[in-house]
Amino acid sequence: MSSNVRPENMERITTPELAKAFIEEQVAKIRAQVGDKKVLLALSGGVDSSVVAALLIKAIGKQLLCVHVNHGLMRKNESENVIEVFKNQLDANLVYIDATDRFLDLLAGVSDPESKRKIIGKEFIEVFADEARKLEGVEFLAQGTIYPDILESIKAAEGKKAVKSHHNVGGLPEDLQFELVEPIKLLFKDEVRVVGEALGLPHGMVYRQPFPGPGLGVRCLGAITRDRLAALREADAILREEFDICGLAEKVWQYFIIVPDIKSVGVKDDSRYEGWPAIIRAVNTKDAMSATIEEIPYEVLHKVTNRIINEVEGINRVLYDLTPKPTGTIEWE
Ligand code: XMP
Repeated sequence: MSSNVRPENMERITTPELAKAFIEEQVAKIRAQVGDKKVLLALSGGVDSSVVAALLIKAIGKQLLCVHVNHGLMRKNESENVIEVFKNQLDANLVYIDATDRFLDLLAGVSDPESKRKIIGKEFIEVFADEARKLEGVEFLAQGTIYPDILESIKAAEGKKAVKSHHNVGGLPEDLQFELVEPIKLLFKDEVRVVGEALGLPHGMVYRQPFPGPGLGVRCLGAITRDRLAALREADAILREEFDICGLAEKVWQYFIIVPDIKSVGVKDDSRYEGWPAIIRAVNTKDAMSATIEEIPYEVLHKVTNRIINEVEGINRVLYDLTPKPTGTIEWE
């Protein structure tokens, strides 16, 4: 297995030429490691797993089996985009699993944030493992591990306490042991993006803002209900659409909507209208350890607010979170 330490003299991948050289090198390495065997990959549609998928498709084509698990906590059209890019455009071997009911049934009535995170993480592994057991002849598991993940696990091994239990794929059950294929494990995020563009992945996918493993589950605060989750998904889609239009999407590190489990009294069509508030969060950071607030222009805030209160069923107020990290973490749960 190759080293988990980035050599000090390793050149940073900053140009398409350097990315192409990296791609050629990794394609050769993957072919040498895998031979004619099959490789499994959990494809979330995030930058890292997408770049690994594209690299493996280039190296071994249909020997790669991608599994996309929709946990029902994806953003609007996200799973559809993964299918469009990987199945329709790149002709990948892609299994799509809609596990929405499995996740939402388990989460029903669970309001504690860490319990929610644990349920989502555990169920994700179970759904993926169920699928892996059905497949024959798979000897390898590809993962979108990147260098900060390795640095993070070194910190964890040194006993530094985490604020939240982050979930990413890992820790498969004992009966499922694969050799790992981790072609981007020595790269930093900006390098992964340069490689992704050189592989021809869509710009929107390569420069996608970070999205946590538990997805909208940690933004639909408290016990998740399907109606509030649907409202959150619609409001979030509006915010993203408006950020695309005004150019903030290119500039702001992470921006999204949170919908808490509280209702306030409002009025609509001359009648009492109790609804949830939608909270806008837009932050900038380098490493997610601390974050500052993006000062969204008032006209954008007004437009987003008007669209959300008019277009989203169940939301009657829009608020803007001005809290930096610390004290507020980026996500609310
Ligand atoms: P917090 O809320 O801790 O978030 O300030 C810092 C960054 O991490 C993202 N985040 C996650 N990413 N799995 C992930 O891959 C997770 O479980 C997870 N939880 C939070 C968050 O969106 C922010 O970018």
